[in-house]
Amino acid sequence: MNLFSVSPSGTCPPANVPRPACRTAMLLATLAALLPATVAAQVRMPDHERAQLAPRERLLINDGWRFTSGDPADAGERLAYDLRPVVKYSEDGKAADAEPVAPERLAAAGHSVLKPWILPTGNAFIADPSKRHVRPAGHPGSDVSYVQPAFDDRAWRQVDLPHDWAIEGPFLPEGPYGGMGRLKSWGPVWYRKALAIPAADKGKSLFLDVDGAMSYATVWLNGKLVGGWPYGYTSWRVDLTPYANPGGRNQLVIRLDNPGESARWYPGSGIYRNVWLTKTQPVHVGQWGTVITTPQVSKAAAQVRLAVTVDNAGSDAAAVDVGTDIYALDDAGARTGGIVARTARARLAVPAGGSSVTQAAVTIDKPRLWGPPPTQQPHRYLAVTTVYRDGRAVDRYETRFGVRSLRLDANEGLSVNGERLPIRGINAHQDLGALGTAWNYRAAERQLEILAGMGVNALRMSHYPHAPELMELADRMGFLVFDEVFDAWERRKTPLDFSLVFPDWHEQDLRSLIRRDRNHPSVMAWSVGNEVGEQYTGKDGAAIGAKLVAIAHAEDPTRLASSGMNFAKPEMALPATLDFISLNYQGEGIRQDPEFEGTDRIRTPPQFPRFHDRFPDKPVLSSESASAFSSRGVYLFPVTRANSSITRDGRGGDSVNHQVSAYELYAVDFGSSADKVFGSLDQHPFVAGEFVWTGFDYLGEPTPYYTSRSAYTGIVDLAGFPKDRYYLYQSRWRAGLPMAHILPHWTWPERQGEVTPVHVFTSADEGELFVNGQSQGRRKKGPSEYRLRWDDVVYAPGEVSVVTYRDGKEWARDRVVTAGAAARLDLSADRTAIRNDGSDLSFVTVRVVDDQGNLAPRANQRVRFEVTGPGEIVATDNGDPTDLEAFKAPERRAFNGLALAIVRFKPGQAGTVTVRASADGLKSGTATLQAAPVRK
Ligand code: GAL
Repeated sequence: MNLFSVSPSGTCPPANVPRPACRTAMLLATLAALLPATVAAQVRMPDHERAQLAPRERLLINDGWRFTSGDPADAGERLAYDLRPVVKYSEDGKAADAEPVAPERLAAAGHSVLKPWILPTGNAFIADPSKRHVRPAGHPGSDVSYVQPAFDDRAWRQVDLPHDWAIEGPFLPEGPYGGMGRLKSWGPVWYRKALAIPAADKGKSLFLDVDGAMSYATVWLNGKLVGGWPYGYTSWRVDLTPYANPGGRNQLVIRLDNPGESARWYPGSGIYRNVWLTKTQPVHVGQWGTVITTPQVSKAAAQVRLAVTVDNAGSDAAAVDVGTDIYALDDAGARTGGIVARTARARLAVPAGGSSVTQAAVTIDKPRLWGPPPTQQPHRYLAVTTVYRDGRAVDRYETRFGVRSLRLDANEGLSVNGERLPIRGINAHQDLGALGTAWNYRAAERQLEILAGMGVNALRMSHYPHAPELMELADRMGFLVFDEVFDAWERRKTPLDFSLVFPDWHEQDLRSLIRRDRNHPSVMAWSVGNEVGEQYTGKDGAAIGAKLVAIAHAEDPTRLASSGMNFAKPEMALPATLDFISLNYQGEGIRQDPEFEGTDRIRTPPQFPRFHDRFPDKPVLSSESASAFSSRGVYLFPVTRANSSITRDGRGGDSVNHQVSAYELYAVDFGSSADKVFGSLDQHPFVAGEFVWTGFDYLGEPTPYYTSRSAYTGIVDLAGFPKDRYYLYQSRWRAGLPMAHILPHWTWPERQGEVTPVHVFTSADEGELFVNGQSQGRRKKGPSEYRLRWDDVVYAPGEVSVVTYRDGKEWARDRVVTAGAAARLDLSADRTAIRNDGSDLSFVTVRVVDDQGNLAPRANQRVRFEVTGPGEIVATDNGDPTDLEAFKAPERRAFNGLALAIVRFKPGQAGTVTVRASADGLKSGTATLQAAPVRK
């Protein structure tokens, strides 16, 4: 920016803030005109005035926080957001598809609660001005010791964000805590940080942007209550401006108060996502203030439409000019080349204390389209919007977007840029395994890389807003996103879930998610709910559904919205209010086995055709399919001959050791195996595809064994090790990849002479199995068969191998041998060069192997990790749902031959890090990591 630029008329604008700066600029401009260039170059505006003219700054303020848990004695009961019902008995372990019920609602009249002061934080997301909240006078909490600016917090723990305090454990071995992951994630906690707000920030708007904090956040600055946000998954902003003290001390205090019995999964804890301090001029682009759509897309040209909302926090009306430049981005997100399109600058009048919107349209010639690999590439663009006031840039705002067309059709399913793409999706909870919910870019990227290897092209963000950077990753890597906001509306699933605040906050939470995410090309549709209790309440429930869908349309007319239904039938009221039919398990049928006759649980014949007939114009997809169970590397006998079975002792389950068989045929009572779902999808080609429950095991909800810490439904275990099921999905979703995968392992000294079925997951259509060179017969997949199975194989140690064929030609082979005694530890790092920025990670896998290097598939030795050099172990795991050892422990029992250490460099330190793993009686192993340059 030219420091000397002033308004063309040479007068300063009537704005409240930059006036002194402008006057100085005018003076300097005049001087500059009079002086020779060399002298002019030396005439410098004072630093603080130059800073006043700077367009926005967005500062990551993750470092250097203080943390403690529990309220101080002087807080009393005054800091509660609202009264909460007393939970008299735990509902831990309740079936996931139990009917949600009406929550207990308490009137807070007569009690001092903070709700009236918190509600106004969401006003920008309430469309009807008469429904916005007026903040009462005063600053509750300002007399509480922890809130006081001068409080001495040096005894508190020093932490950097993102921070999930509960993930450290210990696990709670006893009691009804399985649903929330056996980790105590509830109770009040406090964070404090002194903010750097220099004198130069005087007159600016200052915002605290919190990507997510679990939950019921209240924010004070300099002892004054600023605001807060209840829902722990939403990204939210509070305006610090009225309470800031530029040039002085600025003490920020945040209290969180996550309730127990508030989630069906591990919700995480703490300020577990990034936190930003955003500084702008009073006239600036509003929060998530750009909307970019691409209504016409062809190979030759794309029309790009932009709407920009400009806020004016000043006390004078402002006239601004708004223009946007568009650049192409490379795969890493950096600009390539010059401007590819530019909007004309548009004049916009913004009233004092108000907002105005300007619209523009441009054409990008020969656009590089965004689409999911491998058939398409996820190209992205960057829109740089500049707001000029009197010719001077007062704000610059960047929006990444993609050019693509997307269509969900009742008969054709999903098309992206005209190409039909079956949805090969998974459901994802937000935890990153042993790292908990503390956002980590690399850990999330690794999860997506593993999923991409299986052929996944879509993610359902079950059942709440996920981290904004995950949306960036989805854009960058080319995953479609089914973006979901709620698991409950007015009726509750757990006693203290979102239903408590739904009446007051549903509009704000839904609008904020859509405003945050609508420019992401990855977002294919909105989900306003999951298996909500309002499926059961006829017209009343449907009215809520209709209201939420209308909000989604108002915020984003370009995408369809639905809600996941495990109960509602075509003739019921709710489905008619939705843009498309989003079915959980109902498509393939629920509890159809005769043994469920007479059950009071949901029991439903296959619903795909019924919905299609009733709503011939509505697209249909499976928002949750399968809910199949398995423990990696555990094989239980006998093996069912069916292609799908519920899980019980003797049928894939082991209620003594709390493990489920990895023959990948067993599911939750209301679910189905992968194979059965494939069959159902193939019979109903109008269905757009499926989102499997789930891609990864996740913390909490350990159905069917609630004494465990984590779920059994993942295709990949909690440590990121693929289960056998991974190869079953890969065989269908990457059908062009020559692959074959044998299960089980072949080390069964106690099964000599016993029937030990061998199954093969392959993208071939035929295969011949050999045990110690002896053919077990050549098999071909029949109709609705998705695996090759030899169910009568008799175990003998040695080698089992398969040769597969496609269209009669050899396609892929696999072999498994009987392992010898465990002899040594074999280490491999997923990345051997990592950045020393304190957040980049290397995932080091330990394999317990015999002296030939074969995996010892049942090894369970205790592995001890040690690090030398400037690194540290962040967490360890093994993927065993029953392992209650704290994730931070530097020792970990191997689970069926594998263990994992997650390692990072100490921030800023260079050199070589050596990770050593040792175990009694085994030769130890090492992995070596180098520091890579920090990415700018
Ligand atoms: C579904 C539910 C999911 C999860 C799953 C477990 O009913 O929507 O959140 O609970 O069951 O199988």
